[in-house]
Amino acid sequence: MINQRFNQNVLVTGGAGYIGSHTCKALFEEGYTPVVIDNLVTGHEWAVKWGPLEKGSFGDSQFITDLIARYNPIAILHFAASIDVAESVKDPFKYYQNNTINTFELLKVIKTNPIPFIFSSTCATYGTPLQPTLDENHLQNPINPYGSSKLMVEKMLIDASRIFNIPYTILRYFNACGADSACEIGESHPIETHLIPLTVQAALGQRTSLTVFGTDYETPDGSCIRDYIHVTDLANAHILALKRLLNQQSSECINLGIGHGYSVLEITELVKKITGSDFKVEYADRRAGDPAILIANASKALKLLRFMPKHSNLTNIIQTAWSWQLKESLACK
Ligand SMILES: NC(=O)c1ccc[n+]([C@@H]2O[C@H](COP(=O)([O-])OP(=O)(O)OC[C@H]3O[C@@H](n4cnc5c(N)ncnc54)[C@H](O)[C@@H]3O)[C@@H](O)[C@H]2O)c1
Repeated sequence: MINQRFNQNVLVTGGAGYIGSHTCKALFEEGYTPVVIDNLVTGHEWAVKWGPLEKGSFGDSQFITDLIARYNPIAILHFAASIDVAESVKDPFKYYQNNTINTFELLKVIKTNPIPFIFSSTCATYGTPLQPTLDENHLQNPINPYGSSKLMVEKMLIDASRIFNIPYTILRYFNACGADSACEIGESHPIETHLIPLTVQAALGQRTSLTVFGTDYETPDGSCIRDYIHVTDLANAHILALKRLLNQQSSECINLGIGHGYSVLEITELVKKITGSDFKVEYADRRAGDPAILIANASKALKLLRFMPKHSNLTNIIQTAWSWQLKESLACK
């Protein structure tokens, strides 16, 4: 494939990780060159297929300064972070260091040379929902250190943008899931905490059971409800956001979800049906920091980005996650 926008380098922190690598594929297919910055703490060298890998931390100012001079990027997509909510409750300083302080260092590097900046934020910045679906103006009152560490970055970025003219888009993802339909990449976290990969791993027999945390929430079946968006849709939304930002349109915060939720028990049942595996399900207490329901109001993404999810029906999500897990289990990535 020929890159039509040859020399249009985009720095992608965390591009060896799950969402970052899918976005690198989408960037490459659009003719950009994704330059991945990743220290591989949870990412994988095999996931970097569409541009160079620069190994190191995005919080290392000299390293980033040198890369900006070398690649002259048209934008920075900042995915890299520590992402485990439960771990953040036990080890908050790790999250403030990696997510907040390291991003502070990154923003200081670009303050004299403003580069359009797209930040991977999260619905965890909202905290406990005050209404069934969350729009971008919903109160941001995170209930775990992961969400707080991300909200601090949002605030820093907005303040820095005002004075240093850094154009930005803050994208607040809901639950990323599924895998590349060609099975070139997929979700592969060293310690998996996300429901869909855990469920398909249980279906494959890689786990003895699946644990459902909390069955006494105020939801129809008592389990948590989340908004699941396919990672390929997320990746494509980044292309739309990038084009919009490069077109010098205003800085914005935008939810990325589908506007509909599924419960943990609904997903468990559908995974059993699709995979034909009747794996064991165990029931445990609620986890600290888990709200009952998180569903996006996705209308701003539709209005500003013309973003319409095409891959996010639950059957496709589970089928692509299942195909990827099967491929990973055969170790033929
Ligand atoms: N996965 C989700 O459902 C979800 C939901 C909301 C928001 N997000 C956000 O999306 C982003 C990507 O999430 P993901 O699921 O792809 O996570 P991931 O763990 O797969 O990817 C993160 C990547 O960042 C790298 N990294 C971490 N710290 C680094 C550092 N200091 N320097 C360089 N590289 C570093 C890791 O090695 C990894 O490759 C994160 O910012 C996360 O907070 C994810």
